[in-house]
Amino acid sequence: RSCEAVEIERTLAMIKPDGLSGNYTEKIKEAILESGFDIIEEAVVQLDVERASLFYAEHADKSFFNSLVKYMTSGPVCAMILESPDAISRWRNLIGPTDARKAKTSHPDSIRAMCGLDSEKNCVHGSDSPQSAAREISFFFGDDKSEALEHDEL
Ligand code: TYD
Ligand code: MG
Repeated sequence: RSCEAVEIERTLAMIKPDGLSGNYTEKIKEAILESGFDIIEEAVVQLDVERASLFYAEHADKSFFNSLVKYMTSGPVCAMILESPDAISRWRNLIGPTDARKAKTSHPDSIRAMCGLDSEKNCVHGSDSPQSAAREISFFFGDDKSEALEHDEL
C-alpha cells in the first residue's frame, strides 16, 4: 500500500454539570462534529461523591478536591467517547486551558472560553494521555470500549 497508516484514537470527553445546566450541550456537540470527531458512545449520568472522587483520584490531595467533587456531583454530566486521528491531543486543544478565565483571553475559540467560568467550573473534561483515556473510557463505558476497533488507512 502506498499510503501511511494513521492511528485512530479514542478519548473521553465530558460535559460537566454547568455545561449541561447552561444548555451548552448542542453547541459543544456541534463543535465536536465540526472538528471531525465521531461520537462513539454517550451517556448522561449523575455522579455520586464516591464515583466523582474516584474519577479525580489523582487530585485527592489537592486543596480544591472537596470543592471539585461537590461541583461534579451538583447535577448530571454527559460522558462521550470521541474517536478520530490524534483524538486525545486534538480534543484537549479544542477545550482550551483548565482556567476558563485564561481561555477567554488566550484561547477565545476554545470550548472552555465559550462556556466555562473559572479554574473549577470549566464546563468540559478531556483525557490528558492514552493511559488516562483508557482509564476514563472504562470508568464510564467498560474496558472493551477503550480502543478503536481498527486502524484506518488514509
Ligand atoms: P486538571 O487535571 O489540572 O485540569 P484539566 O481538567 O484541564 O485536565 O484539574 C482537574 C480539574 O480540577 C479541573 O478541570 C478543575 C479542577 N481544578 C480546580 O478546581 N482548581 C484548580 O486550581 C485546578 C488546577 C483544577
Ligand atoms: Mg486533567
